[in-house]
Amino acid sequence: MKKILVTGGAGYIGSHVVKALGEQGYEVLVFDNLSTGNEWAVLSGRLVQGDVADRGALDRVLTEFRPDAVIHFAASIVVSESVAEPLKYYRNNTATALNLLEALQAHGVNRFIFSSTAAVYGIPEKIPVNEQSPLLPINPYGTSKMMTELLLRDLALANPLFRYVALRYFNVAGADGGNRIGQAYKNPTHLITRALKTASGTYPALQLFGTDYATPDGTCIRDYIHVDDLASAHVLALESLLAGGESALFNCGYGRGYSVREVVDVAKKITGVDFTVIEEERREGDPPALVADSSLIQSTLGWKPKHDDLEYIVGTAWAWEQKITGK
Ligand code: UFG
Repeated sequence: MKKILVTGGAGYIGSHVVKALGEQGYEVLVFDNLSTGNEWAVLSGRLVQGDVADRGALDRVLTEFRPDAVIHFAASIVVSESVAEPLKYYRNNTATALNLLEALQAHGVNRFIFSSTAAVYGIPEKIPVNEQSPLLPINPYGTSKMMTELLLRDLALANPLFRYVALRYFNVAGADGGNRIGQAYKNPTHLITRALKTASGTYPALQLFGTDYATPDGTCIRDYIHVDDLASAHVLALESLLAGGESALFNCGYGRGYSVREVVDVAKKITGVDFTVIEEERREGDPPALVADSSLIQSTLGWKPKHDDLEYIVGTAWAWEQKITGK
């Protein structure tokens, strides 16, 4: 049984990947400081509470668990916060990844999967965007992730034993089909979560940021991917690395874009609540449109998404939202 160390495995995306790893028979150790993650979200394996910035704690876990591969989720993820607090992002996302990679090198762990982001592309010239597009992030969040991609590239060049896969996530949403885990941030910022929390009465209104973009209805376009499909991409990337596959970078999205207004309409339909929407100024750091060309991961790893359906995505998120608000 292969052993997988998952940093940030108690968080939203990490916990769905841990669930999928458990289902595939991997032995999992989650390493998470529980700053945004939750103990109840770890459905498989063991949880060790610790911080990736703490080299001593990492050394202890690596000595004891001796993982075959590491999947690194632990990070800060809010674009607007990264604009206001850039150093937090360079510390939590770039410096901490460097600390982890140094520890892994010292312990001879040479298989690594990295949570990257579509934010590395900035405002792409061509949509859908493929992996060869230039990396021109427009916010510190995207830059902090791009810098880690560059660390990985250079490490792999210097150490031929080291192999990694960086997965560039587009807009991850939805919840476990079995309604056991889902998003549980204290201050959620993502559109679908904010819309559903408005429908459930947690917020009085949904703010819609920007209606004057050069898009068909003036609102931003995003490629929403169900978190279980993203989890299966991680399992395939891991299988590839464990089988001796090459380092690679892949987009993770469906190749289909929805505007903010379209998402709001689906949220109203699924919930049956005609919640209030207030049109606001643009939010800083938002690119007008981000849609993935995900043909590379499909042809290379054989990834086949199962939930390319915005109503399913919003429906699972709504079931989860009702469960955690007790309604
Ligand atoms: N939006 C609103 N109102 C809200 C929340 C969001 O109008 O209350 C809008 C945003 O302005 C944006 C769109 O909905 O136009 C999507 O915003 P999200 O906050 O849901 O997601 P982002 O696109 O900003 O960011 C997400 C992840 C990033 C990742 C990016 C890649 O949080 O980590 O997708 O596409 F980099």
